[in-house]
Amino acid sequence: MNQIVYFNGQFLPKEQVRLSPDDRGFLFGDGVYEVVRSYEGRLFALEPHLARLRYGLEELEIAGADSESLAHVCRELIERNSLSRGDATVYLQVTRGAAPRTHFFPEPSVPPTVYAQAGRFAPKGDPAIGIAAITVPDTRWARCDIKSVQLLANCLANQRARRLGAQEALLVRDGVVLEGSHTSVFFVLDGEVRTAPKTNYILPSITRDVVLEICRDEGIEAREVPVHYHQLPRAEEIFIVGTTVEILPVVRLDGQAVGGGRPGPIAQRLLERFKERTR
Ligand SMILES: Cc1ncc(COP(=O)(O)O)c(C=O)c1O
Repeated sequence: MNQIVYFNGQFLPKEQVRLSPDDRGFLFGDGVYEVVRSYEGRLFALEPHLARLRYGLEELEIAGADSESLAHVCRELIERNSLSRGDATVYLQVTRGAAPRTHFFPEPSVPPTVYAQAGRFAPKGDPAIGIAAITVPDTRWARCDIKSVQLLANCLANQRARRLGAQEALLVRDGVVLEGSHTSVFFVLDGEVRTAPKTNYILPSITRDVVLEICRDEGIEAREVPVHYHQLPRAEEIFIVGTTVEILPVVRLDGQAVGGGRPGPIAQRLLERFKERTR
């Protein structure tokens, strides 16, 4: 079936999209993106995703993209691509637009490039089995709180994981395990759930917020505190969370078994509660 996408105010078949080689997204990675999950046609946590997009646009001073209309665009794409049944994702991207290549922003300013597409989604990992992960040095820039399309360090980290037969790379900066290449990360240490605090060194993940909320509702002790690399061998459980992975236990880290090499009880319980919220 012809995939219908959204491009600068229009819904059209994907192959009709014509993107300028002067687009600053192409030239500089000058833009932001979002991925929203749809369960049976229901877009999960759409408003927080759009709020994060607005935050990124403001931080980068990209004007002219109306996030209200993007909510409508997401719903239309689900509808027009017959994705109202089953699992799907919507991908949104806004760049600063097309202009002659200069490091400073275009003068006069140009309209942003707004693109969105929706597609069927199949989860990659099985939470009943868990995944393998590795740790790598975090070589990203210092504004990881912006969901920038400039993901080269994330790609290099994830590719290294893949080459080593693992599914995710956990990024370590100054001895602190911050997040994954495309996920947030949680640990169970001394019976307590821990995840890195929100700073400019991590993405303010929507799923991370939901998981912390579930912990509060369930009376599970949870704290936003740095977890150090040297503490990893003591971790009773490790799990990654995110829009595409939901809650996925890490059962091997750097070749060593985590928590006996099987998904742990806290991750399993959180996932059950998470599913109740999304389905
Ligand atoms: C670096 C990074 N951290 C965390 C996440 C998880 O964020 P969310 O739960 O909003 O999908 C992502 C998702 O793309 C990510 O790229």
